[in-house]
Amino acid sequence: MFKFEGANILSVNQFDRESIEYLFRIADMMQPYAHRQKQTKVLDGAILGNLFFEPSTRTRVSFGTAFNLLGGHVRETTGLSSSALAKGESLYDTARVLSSYSDVIAMRHPDAGSVAEFAEGSRVPVINGGDGANEHPTQALLDLYTIQKEQHAHHAGIDGMHIAMIGDLKHGRTVHSLCKLLCLYQNIKLTLISPKELAMPAYIVDAINNAGHECIITEQLEGHLDADIVYQTRIQQERFASEAEANLYRGKFRLNQAIYTQHCKSNTVIMHPLPRDSRADANELDNDLNLNPNLAIFRQADNGVLVRMALFATTLGVQDIIQKYEAPVCWYSNKRDTVN
Ligand code: CP
Repeated sequence: MFKFEGANILSVNQFDRESIEYLFRIADMMQPYAHRQKQTKVLDGAILGNLFFEPSTRTRVSFGTAFNLLGGHVRETTGLSSSALAKGESLYDTARVLSSYSDVIAMRHPDAGSVAEFAEGSRVPVINGGDGANEHPTQALLDLYTIQKEQHAHHAGIDGMHIAMIGDLKHGRTVHSLCKLLCLYQNIKLTLISPKELAMPAYIVDAINNAGHECIITEQLEGHLDADIVYQTRIQQERFASEAEANLYRGKFRLNQAIYTQHCKSNTVIMHPLPRDSRADANELDNDLNLNPNLAIFRQADNGVLVRMALFATTLGVQDIIQKYEAPVCWYSNKRDTVN
């Protein structure tokens, strides 16, 4: 099994199925703390360096929230232009300095391979919050955790399921990492729906085929949405040479309630890593799906806190002593489970 304690989390390639199932059991244990039924101070005194050199809402804030929920403290820097990287400082030097201020670092950067390069200079574990179009391992873990929960609610598992991925599969790092994780499971059908210019990279399709899964590649939505999970993605405009080039593909694959009713199964679960592009020319996941109980996008985002808590607990080696540092919640709290 993968040794979490002290490890960098840079790629999903590091994990085997046993390690993922272990991590998900720890994530399950985090629910009472995330739901504010009780609190723990197990990481009191520990510092997270939360370094986001590319825009983020969910990943940055949920890393910080997860660390705070374990009792730790968070120091942040956001944006390349406000860091000394803009003055020509190397990732190695930045890592040497910031790792002496922190016990663990979470980092997002626009360049593929940058987080691994940073980790070489770090004296504390580094967790990849997304490196260019390469990988987004913690998103893939929370996606898989969500898939497991949603499938479980339908009395099914991950093995044998059908997932359809839609959109910019070329630049979407979340689908790259998720496909790699799905290769650890059995007998999955993957339908990859995209314009051919934005198709899933060949090395990932090869990995899917080598895992023995069924892989269908198509440019058509219709006839391919009767899956257990439909995973919609955004056109990753920031990875295109120009906005005009991204505009060629924006809005090509829209999903709304009418399409859902006509083409999906009655219990097909809709996922999206978010942000969804809700502008009129894109509207890839229409607001008219918001009351559909199978829209799992906000449950998915909530699960990010649980999985990131589990990653902090295991990389810092406190997963077995969380309850020892437990305390009651003494403020008004009425957190409800997300219905959709
Ligand atoms: N899913 C995701 O990475 O969202 P953010 O860009 O808001 O972090």
